[in-house]
Amino acid sequence: MARRLLIAGNWKMYKTVGEARQFITELHRHLTGANPPLPEILVCPPFTALQGALQAASELGAPVHVGAQTMESREEGAYTGEISPVMLKDMGVDFVIIGHSERREYYNETDHSVNAKVHAALKHQLTPIICVGESLEQRESGQTDAHVEQQVRVALNDVSPSDYPKLVFAYEPIWAIGTGKTCEAAEADRVCGLIRNVLNDTGNGDTVRILYGGSMKPENSLELLKKTHIDGGLIGGASLKPDSFFEIIRHAVETGGTVSV
Ligand code: PGA
Repeated sequence: MARRLLIAGNWKMYKTVGEARQFITELHRHLTGANPPLPEILVCPPFTALQGALQAASELGAPVHVGAQTMESREEGAYTGEISPVMLKDMGVDFVIIGHSERREYYNETDHSVNAKVHAALKHQLTPIICVGESLEQRESGQTDAHVEQQVRVALNDVSPSDYPKLVFAYEPIWAIGTGKTCEAAEADRVCGLIRNVLNDTGNGDTVRILYGGSMKPENSLELLKKTHIDGGLIGGASLKPDSFFEIIRHAVETGGTVSV
């Protein structure tokens, strides 16, 4: 079997509707000149720009998926300010980032709320991108593996192994996010391999895509994407400009667009 690489942009709290449309238009121009096989391509705008990005991609016929950066696990109710999986699905969104470290740090998300959201995503046919990763303190005190393993195990609570092919994980060491410090490719590959082993404990880990995230950029993406256990990238800063995002996509094309296992 083969896993198709996934190159995903996490725009965080950047871009208006007009800027999102402009980005898709420019990215599409780059993509029309690229040689297939392309990886799967995803952008995750803020909620307010989801519709604009979806419309731009569909008008242009651009091979770009649109995903959300978070969601509530419940379907509806008195939860001021929240967006439900039903609402996302209704718009035509097909991916959702779950448990990003910024959500865990600033909005009190926990391994247990992540697990509830994974179930909600699967119920509504949204592909969850489940983020895990250690802090600098945890890395320096030798807790990386235990911490990541625990996050993966709780995220998977009561998830059927038959649903594993619908999951995506992202290994994002917190100390590498937005800092310019990338995890060494060999070490990133090792931790992604560890996540795969945890998945193999209960199901078939080979069917799950595992991304690396944390200061991925054109200067380091080729080396990271060549690694056996790294099936793509979750990219923040370098996904905000069509040129740098496309460079990373080009590196995924260079590695063949898929990983054979
Ligand atoms: P970064 O962000 O690429 O800017 O480090 C990655 C992320 O937060 O997903």
